[in-house]
Amino acid sequence: MSAFPKDFLWGAATSAYQIEGAVNEQGRGKSIWDTFCEAPGHIYLGDSGQFGSFHFKHWQDDLNLMRTIGINSYRFSFAWPRIFPNETNQLNIKGFDFYNKMIDRLLELNITPFATLYHWDLPDWIQKRGGWTNRDTCSLFVEYAEQMLSRFSDRIPYWVTINEPFVAAYLGHLTGEHAPGITSTESALKAAHYFMLAHGQTIKNFKDKYPVQFGIALNLSPVFPASAADRIAAANYNMYLNESFLSLLFKGRYPANFPAGDFIKPDDFSEIAAPIDFLGVNYYTRTIVKAAPEVDLFKCRIIPAPPNPCSDMWEFYPQGLSKILASIQENYSSIPIYVLENGTSLNGMEDTGRIIYLQAHIEELKKAIRLGIPVKGYYVWSLLDNFEWAMGYSKKFGLIDVNYETEKRALKQSAYWYSNFIRQQTSLL
Ligand code: FCB
Repeated sequence: MSAFPKDFLWGAATSAYQIEGAVNEQGRGKSIWDTFCEAPGHIYLGDSGQFGSFHFKHWQDDLNLMRTIGINSYRFSFAWPRIFPNETNQLNIKGFDFYNKMIDRLLELNITPFATLYHWDLPDWIQKRGGWTNRDTCSLFVEYAEQMLSRFSDRIPYWVTINEPFVAAYLGHLTGEHAPGITSTESALKAAHYFMLAHGQTIKNFKDKYPVQFGIALNLSPVFPASAADRIAAANYNMYLNESFLSLLFKGRYPANFPAGDFIKPDDFSEIAAPIDFLGVNYYTRTIVKAAPEVDLFKCRIIPAPPNPCSDMWEFYPQGLSKILASIQENYSSIPIYVLENGTSLNGMEDTGRIIYLQAHIEELKKAIRLGIPVKGYYVWSLLDNFEWAMGYSKKFGLIDVNYETEKRALKQSAYWYSNFIRQQTSLL
């Protein structure tokens, strides 16, 4: 018998800016990532998402490949700048066409759409008004969310508000490694708060209006000190990375040591903690930190993992996944969980390391399910090779290889493995 329930969602994930390309088509406006990529030194080899994985052009082939692999769900994101391209805040009706066709085709193929409203591509005109450091952006987000929900809630059952608020807030506004490339503690704390507020206001406004399941996707990772002397630093980083978001969502407050800010209003907390239907967990690896008092806010540095056969980026640490899931259950909530991203960057078509990586993480999910943790779905990041933010096209996360010269797609060994695995699950039921 399979450890996984019959209605378990086996999927793969992508995001708009990383795969779509076609940045000037059908009235799309500029996003902060277009702007960020233009400035020299931001992206490896000066690349950008201008072409992405050419998915806007080849989406039908990509959906057919999903069917070939046999996934029963697909997580993707909408590009906000396709919907509200410029400062007039006028709707671009053409912006819906692409998603409309894609969603219909997914349903024809029996693939459940799982949508993300915000996967980091803020319209550039909103950034010019302060972006996520301006409270008004929350209202603009709610307006955009309603446009999407009113058109697609009849066909999309699962909705993620914000993808990885930690990364978008702190890499975007503290370290400046991501768009919009700001380096300010106050901006980062504001952005983190407003991401959560935009999330909560969306749930509050639309929970009763649209018959869908709502959640958020957090990047969670157990934090370990490099040595005993780094314990305080590890606890501090854990607060920013994991606890602050979980505490806001499930306890309606920041952890006790979290810095206060006059932009935080008392009423915000009940909005942010509006009950969600599921928690999305993105898990890749654990985090090991070393104290570094000179580092703003985090007071530590992350120790990079040496490359290994399973990843050219991260330590192979599958047990961190069940650890994180158990700690959510123990300390916060027994809410249904979807692992909305898990995967690894590796070169080559014979990607045995990726197979080992995926298999090991799925084993951890089994353990979690046996412990009674309600895990309901698992999404490999990513369906296909794509634009990996500051690292450009140098990192390859796909189950499907994309040849960026010819635009041709080809299934890697891991895609065949995942395909067999999913089929086995259904035959075991
Ligand atoms: C996550 C992002 C996703 C992708 C993976 C590798 O942090 O959500 O877009 O870049 O990492």
